[in-house]
Amino acid sequence: MNEWFRKKSLQELLQKKGRAQLEQTLSAFDLILLGIGAIVGTGIFILPGTVAAEHAGPAIVFSFIIAAIVCAFAGLCYSEFSSSVPVTGSAYSYAYVVFGELFAWIVGWVLILEYGLAVASVATGWSSYLSALLAGLQLHIPQALSGPFNPAAGTYINLPAIAIIMGTAYLLTLGVKESSRINTIMVFIKVGVIVLFLAVGVFYVKPDNWQPFMPYGTSGIFGGAALVFFAYLGFDSVSNAAEEVKNPQRNLPIGIIGSLFICTLLYVSVSLVLTGIAPYSQLNVSDPVSYVISLVGQDWISGLIALGAVVGMMTVILVMSYGGSRLLYAISRDGLLPKSMSQIDEKYKTPIKNTWIFAIAVSACAGFVPLAKLAELVNMGTLIAFAIVSIGILFLRRNKSIPSGGFKVPFYPVLPIVSFLLCLFLMTQLSPYTWMACGIWIIAGIAIYFMYGRKYSHMNDN
Ligand code: ALA
Repeated sequence: MNEWFRKKSLQELLQKKGRAQLEQTLSAFDLILLGIGAIVGTGIFILPGTVAAEHAGPAIVFSFIIAAIVCAFAGLCYSEFSSSVPVTGSAYSYAYVVFGELFAWIVGWVLILEYGLAVASVATGWSSYLSALLAGLQLHIPQALSGPFNPAAGTYINLPAIAIIMGTAYLLTLGVKESSRINTIMVFIKVGVIVLFLAVGVFYVKPDNWQPFMPYGTSGIFGGAALVFFAYLGFDSVSNAAEEVKNPQRNLPIGIIGSLFICTLLYVSVSLVLTGIAPYSQLNVSDPVSYVISLVGQDWISGLIALGAVVGMMTVILVMSYGGSRLLYAISRDGLLPKSMSQIDEKYKTPIKNTWIFAIAVSACAGFVPLAKLAELVNMGTLIAFAIVSIGILFLRRNKSIPSGGFKVPFYPVLPIVSFLLCLFLMTQLSPYTWMACGIWIIAGIAIYFMYGRKYSHMNDN
């Protein structure tokens, strides 16, 4: 039993990292850009259509607001952890310090699910927009190769989705650095096409389309919130930059809350315009934002939006693939996964093996499973991690070996407890299928821990 709860000390983690002091250069504005870069992707280009059609109707705007509140609370908890335990591995490392090995492994294991399936679902969304874009140029991807395995619809494999994942993995093995300049350009392209959509779309809004506003009632709104939660993923990357932020106590919360606030504004506006242009029941298509603009005869603008979406989604795939491969690296470095996953290539100085293993597993999902199923599971994995990070704050504050002095969650202990409960609540809104799939994943993870991790953990060397 003791093995399960053995904890890492902060000193040990910092030593292992052999961390040179990073320069503290990032301002609150840089953090907001970083946040928008990592957050805006498939969520805004696809979910406002599909979730409005099937779950919330035009009231999807409330779903977006509720999901934003949950993320803001969890984001503050992430900020406190990242300024107290500034090491790679995110929630996995935090759990190792406050809850011990078994919990850390479970968190790491669900985060693998989150990153893996997030990449798969964004790649699936990317593929839909690419097809729409090519169709505009009279180029058609053969039907059989353009969607998940669904013989009834004539699709067998999503080849573009597989191709983008493999292409990204190749770039990562070469040691692509997330350059902040490229990130800034991408952010402006993404936000630019969204603003273009709003500026053009607003002239075609027919308020009648907002009637009825809540066709699926409040349960539809809450169910919708659990689904559109996906659109906010990525903001935790802001807290990962904790060590490189000037005046983190002030700038971290501004960065997190600021990027969430801007994204919420964008998401709510897009949802209103989208459901105002066409009746919500017609929006269940894989590229709703460019689709409604072509419905009103603006084919050129629709093409531009599809192009912006294709470019914008690529950064999310890159950032999430990077996160997934570094997470495998961190877990393997602790001995809980085979050593080969933390091998660094001599020449490129990147974990080439784990990058490819990750890409192959993820592309198998992206190639054959539909987007909605993938996105729900991603949300479940993330909500579990958020819940653990939120409640973990109570344990972090009690752990006297961790120096305090970094960012502190306001309204302690109410805020972390409310954050924990909100995450649990959103989890209850996900489908039984998602609970079952996630349960199977966790049971498999626990079995792997007892068969492998417990024996090979580097904590055994202490
Ligand atoms: N938030 C990311 C997106 O919407 C995952 O694509």
